[in-house]
Amino acid sequence: MHILVTGGTGYIGSHTTVELLNQGYQVTIVDNLYNSSIKVLDRIERLTGKRPQFYQTDILDLLSLENVFKENNFDAVIHFAGYKAVGESVSIPITYYQNNIAGSLNLYQLMAKYNVDNIVFSSSATVYGDNFQVPFKEEYGSGDTTNPYGTTKKFNEIILTDIAKANSKLSCVLLRYFNPIGAHPSGLLGEVPNGIPNNLVPYIAKVASGELEYLRVFGDDYDTIDGTGVRDYIHVVDLAKAHLKAIEYTVKHRGIEVINVGSGFGYSVLEILHAYEKACQKPLPYKIVARRPGDIATCYADTAKAKKLLGFECELGIDEMCRDSYNFTKMNPDGIE
Ligand code: NAD
Ligand code: UFG
Repeated sequence: MHILVTGGTGYIGSHTTVELLNQGYQVTIVDNLYNSSIKVLDRIERLTGKRPQFYQTDILDLLSLENVFKENNFDAVIHFAGYKAVGESVSIPITYYQNNIAGSLNLYQLMAKYNVDNIVFSSSATVYGDNFQVPFKEEYGSGDTTNPYGTTKKFNEIILTDIAKANSKLSCVLLRYFNPIGAHPSGLLGEVPNGIPNNLVPYIAKVASGELEYLRVFGDDYDTIDGTGVRDYIHVVDLAKAHLKAIEYTVKHRGIEVINVGSGFGYSVLEILHAYEKACQKPLPYKIVARRPGDIATCYADTAKAKKLLGFECELGIDEMCRDSYNFTKMNPDGIE
């Protein structure tokens, strides 16, 4: 099977490409390298012995993207390409709507024109907003999003649902990721944040490497085990494997399914910090500061549907997540360059 992976040189896309190639899939990546390096392709080749076909193409460029469809015969698409920084999306919403909505529409339009009917879309637990009780269940639908990034995910879910209503051949899995962290155990692939990280584990990694002085813990007065925010962290390699299960599912079914991808467990900020201290074998300084606006206390997945429909369960725990994050950080002090 030939899979088009948009955003395939990015953090989750590169790990998914490795799993796809290892399972014998043919992979073509489309990425404009806005948030990733061309060197990722060398790393993928080192890990798998295979080099995916690569187009440095912007999905906003309809003519170039059409060229990719003309030159290939895809069986399915995994659509990762997009912008993902919550805070930035509040400052530059038009850019986010342009890239994540208009870019996606170009892709969906070409899939229809070239009869590519299977798609896995990168959605996010952020679409639940702060409306529901944990564990978050797919049947809740989606709630009121709290930022433009989250709204782009919600809109994509709605758009794909409408496309599925109009095209009975379409098979779509909307994967709602919880909090992906960690890196490839080889240390060759991982997350390279731009500037000072917004997310917890990339920030802790920079404290561990000495680049940042201490972690700011956003609030210790939530109604949680130790007062700090609780999230459902999933190892990026487990998340990558969930995409293979989702692709297998799309080829056997028709219609659209929303599926959570998380571990089903919640860890607090301080629990993650202490797990990371174990991984790097040193104490990591932190200060409790005010809550971060927009944060919820607790977020974790109901994972029953992923298990039932996809046969997917996480295999890696919090120790492996922190170990692999730290290993990647040590091996790549300047990122993937
Ligand atoms: P990433 O930034 O590492 O990867 C995205 C890739 O898309 C990058 O390589 C970037 O260069 C590319 N890209 C962006 N705009 C493009 C465009 N117009 N044309 C072509 N390529 C473009 O992000 P990631 O963490 O791997 O996330 C992948 C997807 O998963 C995103 O859609 C993101 O919103 C979603 N997601 C991520 C998380 C997370 O915490 N990482 C959580 C939930 C959902
Ligand atoms: N946190 C800190 N200090 C930091 C960064 C984060 O205390 O420097 C805390 C947050 O307050 C929160 C927890 O760590 O309690 C996790 O925060 P992240 O920013 O790592 O993750 P979020 O759950 O806020 O959001 C992430 C992604 C979103 C995605 C969401 C659900 O950033 O894109 O998970 O998938 F939508």
